[in-house]
Amino acid sequence: MSEHFRIEKATIGDVPQIQDLVSNFAGLGEMLPRPLAEIYEHLRDFVIVRDRGRLVACAALHIMWDDLAEIRSLAVEEDWQEQGVGILLARVCLEEARSLGIATVFALTQRPSFFEKLGFHQADMMALPRKVWGECFRCPKFPGCDEIAVIIELRATSSLKR
Ligand SMILES: CC(C)(COP(=O)(O)OP(=O)(O)OC[C@H]1O[C@@H](n2cnc3c(N)ncnc32)[C@H](O)[C@@H]1OP(=O)(O)O)[C@@H](O)C(=O)NCCC(=O)NCCS
Repeated sequence: MSEHFRIEKATIGDVPQIQDLVSNFAGLGEMLPRPLAEIYEHLRDFVIVRDRGRLVACAALHIMWDDLAEIRSLAVEEDWQEQGVGILLARVCLEEARSLGIATVFALTQRPSFFEKLGFHQADMMALPRKVWGECFRCPKFPGCDEIAVIIELRATSSLKR
Protein backbone atom coordinates (compact mmCIF):
# COMPACT_ATOMS: atom_id res chain seq x y z
CA MET A 1 0.00 0.00 0.00
CA SER A 2 2.58 2.56 1.16
CA GLU A 3 4.73 1.93 -1.94
CA HIS A 4 2.13 3.91 -3.95
CA PHE A 5 2.77 7.10 -2.06
CA ARG A 6 5.44 8.85 -0.04
CA ILE A 7 4.93 11.06 2.98
CA GLU A 8 7.02 14.23 2.99
CA LYS A 9 7.38 17.33 5.13
CA ALA A 10 5.42 20.20 3.61
CA THR A 11 7.34 23.04 1.96
CA ILE A 12 6.39 26.67 1.54
CA GLY A 13 5.01 26.14 -1.99
CA ASP A 14 2.51 23.58 -0.65
CA VAL A 15 0.60 26.08 1.46
CA PRO A 16 -2.03 27.19 -1.11
CA GLN A 17 -2.78 23.55 -2.00
CA ILE A 18 -3.04 22.59 1.69
CA GLN A 19 -5.54 25.40 2.16
CA ASP A 20 -7.53 24.35 -0.93
CA LEU A 21 -7.72 20.72 0.23
CA VAL A 22 -8.77 21.64 3.77
CA SER A 23 -11.21 24.29 2.51
CA ASN A 24 -12.98 21.78 0.26
CA PHE A 25 -13.80 19.53 3.21
CA ALA A 26 -14.47 22.54 5.46
CA GLY A 27 -17.04 23.69 2.91
CA LEU A 28 -18.80 20.36 3.37
CA GLY A 29 -18.73 20.87 7.15
CA GLU A 30 -16.38 17.91 7.63
CA MET A 31 -13.47 19.80 9.16
CA LEU A 32 -12.41 23.27 10.22
CA PRO A 33 -11.13 25.78 7.66
CA ARG A 34 -7.59 27.10 8.15
CA PRO A 35 -6.59 30.63 7.14
CA LEU A 36 -3.48 30.92 4.95
CA ALA A 37 -1.67 32.83 7.69
CA GLU A 38 -2.22 29.99 10.15
CA ILE A 39 -0.92 27.38 7.70
CA TYR A 40 2.22 29.45 7.01
CA GLU A 41 2.74 29.97 10.74
CA HIS A 42 2.40 26.24 11.46
CA LEU A 43 3.92 24.92 8.23
CA ARG A 44 6.51 22.85 10.10
CA ASP A 45 3.60 20.88 11.63
CA PHE A 46 2.53 19.54 8.24
CA VAL A 47 3.25 16.32 6.37
CA ILE A 48 1.85 15.83 2.90
CA VAL A 49 1.45 13.34 0.04
CA ARG A 50 1.95 14.41 -3.57
CA ASP A 51 0.86 12.75 -6.78
CA ARG A 52 3.08 13.88 -9.65
CA GLY A 53 3.69 17.21 -7.96
CA ARG A 54 0.07 17.79 -6.96
CA LEU A 55 -0.77 17.71 -3.26
CA VAL A 56 -3.40 15.04 -2.49
CA ALA A 57 -3.28 14.67 1.29
CA CYS A 58 -2.06 16.45 4.39
CA ALA A 59 -1.99 16.25 8.17
CA ALA A 60 -0.49 18.32 10.96
CA LEU A 61 0.85 17.54 14.41
CA HIS A 62 0.47 20.65 16.54
CA ILE A 63 2.20 20.79 19.91
CA MET A 64 -0.01 22.29 22.62
CA TRP A 65 2.08 21.78 25.75
CA ASP A 66 4.86 19.57 27.11
CA ASP A 67 2.55 16.57 27.36
CA LEU A 68 -0.06 17.28 24.69
CA ALA A 69 -0.28 17.54 20.90
CA GLU A 70 -3.14 17.60 18.41
CA ILE A 71 -3.51 15.93 15.04
CA ARG A 72 -5.35 18.48 12.92
CA SER A 73 -6.10 19.27 9.28
CA LEU A 74 -6.00 15.58 8.29
CA ALA A 75 -7.42 15.47 4.77
CA VAL A 76 -7.16 13.08 1.84
CA GLU A 77 -8.49 14.04 -1.58
CA GLU A 78 -11.54 11.93 -2.49
CA ASP A 79 -9.84 9.97 -5.30
CA TRP A 80 -7.10 8.97 -2.87
CA GLN A 81 -9.30 7.88 0.02
CA GLU A 82 -9.66 4.30 1.31
CA GLN A 83 -6.13 3.37 0.26
CA GLY A 84 -4.49 3.75 3.66
CA VAL A 85 -3.15 7.29 3.11
CA GLY A 86 -5.08 8.81 6.04
CA ILE A 87 -4.06 6.07 8.46
CA LEU A 88 -0.41 6.39 7.42
CA LEU A 89 -0.42 10.19 7.79
CA ALA A 90 -1.93 9.85 11.27
CA ARG A 91 0.68 7.22 12.18
CA VAL A 92 3.52 9.49 11.05
CA CYS A 93 2.10 12.24 13.29
CA LEU A 94 1.88 9.81 16.21
CA GLU A 95 5.43 8.58 15.67
CA GLU A 96 6.66 12.17 15.65
CA ALA A 97 4.79 12.88 18.89
CA ARG A 98 6.33 9.77 20.41
CA SER A 99 9.83 10.72 19.27
CA LEU A 100 9.37 14.17 20.81
CA GLY A 101 8.40 12.56 24.12
CA ILE A 102 4.81 13.81 24.08
CA ALA A 103 2.54 11.65 26.22
CA THR A 104 -0.90 12.41 24.84
CA VAL A 105 -2.26 13.16 21.38
CA PHE A 106 -5.84 14.22 20.68
CA ALA A 107 -7.96 15.10 17.69
CA LEU A 108 -11.31 16.81 17.28
CA THR A 109 -13.17 15.00 14.57
CA GLN A 110 -16.44 13.87 13.04
CA ARG A 111 -14.79 10.54 12.18
CA PRO A 112 -14.04 9.03 15.63
CA SER A 113 -14.12 5.48 14.20
CA PHE A 114 -11.18 6.36 11.92
CA PHE A 115 -9.07 7.38 14.92
CA GLU A 116 -10.26 4.44 17.03
CA LYS A 117 -8.56 2.16 14.49
CA LEU A 118 -5.29 3.76 15.57
CA GLY A 119 -5.95 3.15 19.27
CA PHE A 120 -7.58 6.48 20.14
CA HIS A 121 -10.60 6.46 22.45
CA GLN A 122 -13.39 8.99 22.72
CA ALA A 123 -12.99 11.53 25.49
CA ASP A 124 -15.08 14.25 27.09
CA MET A 125 -14.19 17.50 25.33
CA MET A 126 -14.50 19.24 28.72
CA ALA A 127 -11.71 17.01 30.03
CA LEU A 128 -9.21 18.50 27.58
CA PRO A 129 -6.95 21.20 29.02
CA ARG A 130 -8.03 24.81 28.88
CA LYS A 131 -5.24 25.50 26.37
CA VAL A 132 -7.34 23.63 23.79
CA TRP A 133 -10.34 25.80 24.53
CA GLY A 134 -8.30 28.92 23.78
CA GLU A 135 -8.44 27.89 20.11
CA CYS A 136 -12.18 27.21 20.19
CA PHE A 137 -13.02 30.89 20.52
CA ARG A 138 -11.56 31.46 17.04
CA CYS A 139 -13.52 28.58 15.48
CA PRO A 140 -16.38 29.57 13.15
CA LYS A 141 -18.52 26.84 14.73
CA PHE A 142 -18.07 28.14 18.29
CA PRO A 143 -20.03 27.62 20.53
CA GLY A 144 -22.00 25.02 18.51
CA CYS A 145 -19.20 22.44 18.30
CA ASP A 146 -20.16 19.22 16.48
CA GLU A 147 -16.77 17.54 16.79
CA ILE A 148 -15.89 14.58 18.98
CA ALA A 149 -12.69 14.52 21.02
CA VAL A 150 -10.52 11.43 20.63
CA ILE A 151 -7.36 10.83 22.61
CA ILE A 152 -4.43 8.41 22.78
CA GLU A 153 -1.86 7.98 25.55
CA LEU A 154 1.42 7.20 23.83
CA ARG A 155 3.56 6.21 26.80
CA ALA A 156 0.99 3.59 27.75
CA THR A 157 1.03 2.17 24.21
CA SER A 158 3.97 -0.10 23.43
CA SER A 159 3.35 -0.03 19.69
CA LEU A 160 0.74 1.74 17.62
CA LYS A 161 -2.34 -0.30 16.80
CA ARG A 162 -2.25 -1.57 13.21
C1 LIG B 1 -10.95 10.75 7.25
C2 LIG B 1 -9.96 10.65 6.09
C3 LIG B 1 -8.73 11.50 6.43
C4 LIG B 1 -9.56 9.20 5.92
O1 LIG B 1 -8.57 9.14 4.89
P1 LIG B 1 -8.33 7.81 4.04
O2 LIG B 1 -7.07 7.97 3.31
O3 LIG B 1 -9.54 7.48 3.27
O4 LIG B 1 -8.13 6.80 5.22
P2 LIG B 1 -7.64 5.29 5.08
O5 LIG B 1 -7.70 4.82 3.69
O6 LIG B 1 -6.32 5.22 5.76
O7 LIG B 1 -8.74 4.60 5.93
C5 LIG B 1 -10.11 4.87 5.62
C6 LIG B 1 -10.87 3.63 5.60
O8 LIG B 1 -10.44 2.85 4.51
C7 LIG B 1 -10.01 1.59 4.98
N1 LIG B 1 -8.88 1.24 4.15
C8 LIG B 1 -7.59 1.50 4.37
N2 LIG B 1 -6.84 0.99 3.39
C9 LIG B 1 -7.70 0.44 2.50
C10 LIG B 1 -7.53 -0.22 1.27
N3 LIG B 1 -6.33 -0.44 0.73
N4 LIG B 1 -8.64 -0.64 0.62
C11 LIG B 1 -9.87 -0.44 1.15
N5 LIG B 1 -10.07 0.18 2.32
C12 LIG B 1 -9.00 0.61 3.00
C13 LIG B 1 -9.64 1.82 6.42
O9 LIG B 1 -9.74 0.63 7.17
C14 LIG B 1 -10.69 2.81 6.84
O10 LIG B 1 -11.90 2.20 7.14
P3 LIG B 1 -13.15 3.03 7.76
O11 LIG B 1 -13.77 3.80 6.65
O12 LIG B 1 -14.06 1.99 8.30
O13 LIG B 1 -12.59 3.95 8.83
C15 LIG B 1 -10.60 11.11 4.76
O14 LIG B 1 -11.82 10.43 4.58
C16 LIG B 1 -10.86 12.62 4.69
O15 LIG B 1 -9.98 13.36 4.28
N6 LIG B 1 -12.09 13.04 5.10
C17 LIG B 1 -12.46 14.42 5.06
C18 LIG B 1 -11.78 15.22 6.15
C19 LIG B 1 -11.89 14.56 7.51
O16 LIG B 1 -12.95 14.09 7.92
N7 LIG B 1 -10.73 14.52 8.24
C20 LIG B 1 -10.60 13.78 9.48
C21 LIG B 1 -10.71 14.47 10.72
S1 LIG B 1 -9.96 16.04 10.92
